[in-house]
Amino acid sequence: MPRPGTVFLCEKCGAESAQWHGRCPACGEWNTLVEHRAPRRQAGAPRRASGAVPVPAAELTARREPRRETGLAELDRVLGGGVVAGAVVLVAGDPGIGKSTLLLQSANAFAREHGTCLYVSGEESLSQVGMRGARIGPLCPELLFLAETDVGVIEEQARRIGPQLLVVDSVQSLWSGEVESPAGTVSQVRECAARLLRMAKDLGVATFLVGHVTKEGAVAGPRLLEHMVDTVLSLEGDRHSGYRLLRSTKNRFGSTDELGLFRMTEGGMEGVPDASAALLAERRPGVPGSTVVVTMEGSRPLLVEIQALVGEASTYGTPRRSVTGADYNRVCLMLAVLERAAGMGLGLAGRDVFVNVPGGVRVAEPAADLGIAVAMASSLWGVPVDPALGCVGEVGLTGEVRSAPGLEARLGELGRRGFTRCLAGPGGAQRAGREGGAKVVVVQDIAEALGAVRGRAGG
Ligand code: TYD
Ligand code: MG
Repeated sequence: MPRPGTVFLCEKCGAESAQWHGRCPACGEWNTLVEHRAPRRQAGAPRRASGAVPVPAAELTARREPRRETGLAELDRVLGGGVVAGAVVLVAGDPGIGKSTLLLQSANAFAREHGTCLYVSGEESLSQVGMRGARIGPLCPELLFLAETDVGVIEEQARRIGPQLLVVDSVQSLWSGEVESPAGTVSQVRECAARLLRMAKDLGVATFLVGHVTKEGAVAGPRLLEHMVDTVLSLEGDRHSGYRLLRSTKNRFGSTDELGLFRMTEGGMEGVPDASAALLAERRPGVPGSTVVVTMEGSRPLLVEIQALVGEASTYGTPRRSVTGADYNRVCLMLAVLERAAGMGLGLAGRDVFVNVPGGVRVAEPAADLGIAVAMASSLWGVPVDPALGCVGEVGLTGEVRSAPGLEARLGELGRRGFTRCLAGPGGAQRAGREGGAKVVVVQDIAEALGAVRGRAGG
């Protein structure tokens, strides 16, 4: 019989149950329920009476959230033009990807611009933070540091100081005396985040929370954390390449369409405003097995190179398929389509195939299909693709090339980067010939696309 005041929380989804189950009734995961003692309310303490009153709909449109720039243009872009007072932003990412660096830099820039900011480090000592600070350049005297994990102390200090911006690194390192479980557990994370959220709204202080990520890439702790905060940003990238991508997966104060690109340098994270140029900088034009596709990261078109290497027919049983930066299943699909629909008897089935997107970028969009297929054919034949030709289009199972959304923006970006032509499905034909952008070369299906690539080599 559970003690009074006890509930059970799912470690996975954060759902609450009155009794223990072997399997979470909400998300169906096994063995994820843990006991949670509800925070003690002081006897006699009144429940907070709500001060809110209903407002007419007409008043809503007039309200605009005041935004303030963080000092890092790429971060502001992803947030939707700066941070909103009282907003809570969760920044998630793999260990070592640069979360602390990014937030230290923006807190420093913010302090210089707007006054007192507080950076709470629950994981690192002040001297460790200081060493990072020394790398990113002179720290502003208005930026205050606190090495603390007790959320009660953090709250007390923040209320006393009244910072313009609060950074808490990380939410999993915090604990609250009101919950009887160790730091990092679901009930602690939930309670600490809830307290910081309440405080952010009370004080109107923009708050960044660093969140750890599990092996599967989800924010560690309850899914609930993502529901609670206003904005979820994820910092991604290949640790070995210098590029870091910042995306928002949830944004109550803006779109989730924007992408920020940074480069990790010796002196901290550096914004890369011209992402396409940066990603194509090391491309070797005119070699077989390389194409350029335009992916849309929300409203931002991004040129990326797709590289393919098709090996000799494998003498062993199963040929290898290795894919980095693109969707494995789509690559397999393209192999099958090339084999069958292109009707060319390419003999791909028994060969090793490697596909790579350099720069640590992930291209998951179906619009990259055509570029992947063309790169593989180009490698197989040893025929380079015209360096001024881009590829945009989804390829269906029968080999038909479909149009991709946002074609105009994609063609415009290609044009800006000096590309003159772009293979695309018939859906975009009417837009061919736009000023400044690359011209569409309409291809009905994959066979036609390969013909266009080969035709150039022949002529
Ligand atoms: P960090 O911000 O500590 O990552 P996280 O908080 O996400 O775990 O960054 C860690 C890596 O970044 C570390 O390997 C060192 C590197 N780094 C630089 O390359 N340049 C710099 O200026 C800084 C501060 C860190
Ligand atoms: Mg860190």
